Amino acid sequence: MKESQAYIERITRVNRDFQRLDLAVDKSLSSLRAGQALLVRRIDKDYEAEQWDPYLRELWFPVDIHASNILVIEQPARSHFTPGQLLSIIGPVGQPFRFRQKLRSILLIAYHTTPAALLMMLAPLLEREVGITLVLMGTARDYETGHLPGEIEIIQADDDLSWSDMVMTLGWADQVFVAVGPGDELEHLGDIMRVIRRRRNNIPANYVFGVLQRRLPCGVGACHACMLNLRGTQKLQCVDGPAFDLTTLRLN
Ligand code: FES
Repeated sequence: MKESQAYIERITRVNRDFQRLDLAVDKSLSSLRAGQALLVRRIDKDYEAEQWDPYLRELWFPVDIHASNILVIEQPARSHFTPGQLLSIIGPVGQPFRFRQKLRSILLIAYHTTPAALLMMLAPLLEREVGITLVLMGTARDYETGHLPGEIEIIQADDDLSWSDMVMTLGWADQVFVAVGPGDELEHLGDIMRVIRRRRNNIPANYVFGVLQRRLPCGVGACHACMLNLRGTQKLQCVDGPAFDLTTLRLN
């Protein structure tokens, strides 16, 4: 992880509510993988490296990577950005998602958050011919998906977090990744585990992962504000996350 500077090269509106920013970034970020994030601060031209500090930056999960130095970020359309905006970036933050070696199909769930934290895995998994289902729950159902690859199956969950063929979808998935927004994330992950347990008796280790997007005050393991309780241990979202096996995470 290191600090570097980047700038917004291009802005594209992808649907009614979201825009995508192409960031021209330092080559050191070209190896960033799905699951890893950036801590970002907008800066001015006269920003000095001595002004560096990790605190209170925005947490951005790239949704795609182009060539070796363009990272794509999805942001609400109401957030004001202009091409040429300079950014100070600390990253990569966190660990890449750990996929099974023999992955044939994967279930992604976005619950009360946009699926942005899950989108960077789409291109590499489609290249491996992995079947992908994306389920939108709660406020995530407002997310328009027309710009996502057509090979992905999109499902809108009902108010009780179920959907038709749920048992089949869960049985068919080799792994499940659930993104929840910051706030009541442990409660929301608990909701998901309850609905999965009702349909599947045995939930093995490394099957369902919660993807946390808490604001990271420092992002470098210094403040312990992102500490999570797991069975028998504690871990930091910024260093060990963002994905945690839901059979080990202590949920509300
Ligand atoms: S955000 Fe400070 S330790 Fe994780």
